[in-house]
Amino acid sequence: MNAAVQTLNIQAPEYVKNPKLVAWVAEMAALCKPAKIHWCDGSQAEYDALCQQLVNAGTFKPLAKRPGSYLAWTDPSDVARVEDRTYICSAKKEDAGPTNNWMAPAEMRSTLQPLFDGCMTGRTMYVVPFSMGPLGSPIAHVGIELSDSPYVAVNMKLMTRMGRAVFDVIGTDGEFVPCVHTIGAPLKDGEKDQTTWPCSKTKYIVHYPETREIWSYGSGYGGNALLGKKCFALRIASTMGRDQGWLAEHMLILGVTNPEGKKYHVAAAFPSACGKTNFSMLVPPKAFDGWKVTTIGDDIAWIKPQADGSLRAINPEAGYFGVAPGTNMLTNPNCMLSLDKNVIFTNVALTDDGDVWWEGMEADMPNKALPAHLIDWQGKDWTPQIAKETGAKAAHPNARFTVAATNNPALDEAWDDPKGVKIDAMIFGGRRSTTVPLVTEARDWTEGVYMAATMGSETTAAAFGAQGVVRRDPFAMLPFAGYNMSDYFQHWLDLGAKIEAQGAKLPKIFTTNWFRKNAEGKFVWPGYGENMRVLKWMIDRLEGQAQGQETAFGIAPQYAEINWSGLDFSAAQFDSVTNIDQAAWAEEMKLHGEHFDKLAYNLPKALLDTKAELEKRLSA
Ligand code: OXD
Ligand code: MN
Repeated sequence: MNAAVQTLNIQAPEYVKNPKLVAWVAEMAALCKPAKIHWCDGSQAEYDALCQQLVNAGTFKPLAKRPGSYLAWTDPSDVARVEDRTYICSAKKEDAGPTNNWMAPAEMRSTLQPLFDGCMTGRTMYVVPFSMGPLGSPIAHVGIELSDSPYVAVNMKLMTRMGRAVFDVIGTDGEFVPCVHTIGAPLKDGEKDQTTWPCSKTKYIVHYPETREIWSYGSGYGGNALLGKKCFALRIASTMGRDQGWLAEHMLILGVTNPEGKKYHVAAAFPSACGKTNFSMLVPPKAFDGWKVTTIGDDIAWIKPQADGSLRAINPEAGYFGVAPGTNMLTNPNCMLSLDKNVIFTNVALTDDGDVWWEGMEADMPNKALPAHLIDWQGKDWTPQIAKETGAKAAHPNARFTVAATNNPALDEAWDDPKGVKIDAMIFGGRRSTTVPLVTEARDWTEGVYMAATMGSETTAAAFGAQGVVRRDPFAMLPFAGYNMSDYFQHWLDLGAKIEAQGAKLPKIFTTNWFRKNAEGKFVWPGYGENMRVLKWMIDRLEGQAQGQETAFGIAPQYAEINWSGLDFSAAQFDSVTNIDQAAWAEEMKLHGEHFDKLAYNLPKALLDTKAELEKRLSA
């Protein structure tokens, strides 16, 4: 151990009983050289004190209109996940696959070593113990994040089960995923921060799947920094799932209860910023009196097969880190009601009376009135006139709220159940303005895997890159699969085959597209709460109460099988969101082919066979 460790007392609390953990913290402290170490206990008093510290530093502004709530504005260069700086450092390049950035582990370690050496100088290292999933659940796993960002510590308190009890789960020899995070802005020679959002221009978000480690450098934002979320719960957990026979998925989980009290559970994968939070908190329209939708999770599902062949799922998270712009009482009333108190807002605008504002909130105002004046997410004056002249957005398009799940009025009573919930159906939904129909059901598991594997989506603000371009986003996992995408497809096929061989019933798989546009570029399907109509058809299919109709691309609803009560949606409109356009599909199949060419290494033959069958049906 070097001199820095000898002088810095790492002061592990007496309830931390795991020598491996303590030795790792000491080793990381020796490397990062923080001025202090703070072992988080997850208490409210600790949370309040850290928030106050962030207020004193100017990072947080308390919000007069929302009790216990704060607003943070980031550095303009640190506003989203950095996919081009995200690496899967498996021993073999093929194990990361063509959809991930890869570097050999030894090379990455020697790249990171000088960056992490002294990276926390002058700062506090927070030791953040967290459980992904209900404490002690057989589906859950735990991690420890070391971070020099108090913003990360408080966000982790809302987003995970964070605190002392995690050390009891780890005990003397339990496993944990070690996660190291730094903003990469050491304060040398007593220097003080010159900015309220210190970070580095250099960024690395690094995963070592074989040793299950996460190292994150340079960013303080979202999935780059809250390492329980995308880094652990998706990238590392997907590799754990591959090795141990379960699934870590970019899926919301909802409960839907019919008027007779029968309950179903649905897991649904949509790419980033395509309305997963909205769907998970859906309020059914009036025509569905007596139906109830409840939220188990809004972003991630861990799904483990049980001895009886059922698939049980938990939400590994305990809070929502949702996209604020576009959220209002029409698109997501339960979400708006969740945001009244105890929220951390990031990169939204500030009103003159101490409230927050983002694009889309005007929909809740009389005459859709815009506020006369705001301070935008970059601290500049914003008025409707300035917005008109310059196009300036008051809130960054990827502005977020962080809020505990317990704020959600539609929270499912089983959201924290260690046993998880039994999944009855799965949905894969892309964002496509053309081609892909509103909803179809896969004829079998393999066709469902094909639909998910070829899913495409027009890009959004959650990641850097051009917007509105279609990118293939298999299973909505493109930026999140921690290993070779083709091996991931095979894992899904194997899991399905194993369950079927047991004689158990697999969940039905559906694909959806809420986003088709007409010739004028307007969305045809009303979406949001009206998606209940599609969900109900899926349940009818589960119950054998809807016959559907065969199409080239799965089984689709007949017009008359959807409950249209209270919605003016003609058969012609229905046709415009469900038809299979031959020419568009001929193009689409070429793109499926190109996509599969890129994934040729280890691509399951079953998917090529399914493609050939689809082509045959399309040309029949
Ligand atoms: C998210 C994302 O933040 O998918 O959930 O980007
Ligand atoms: Mn997501």
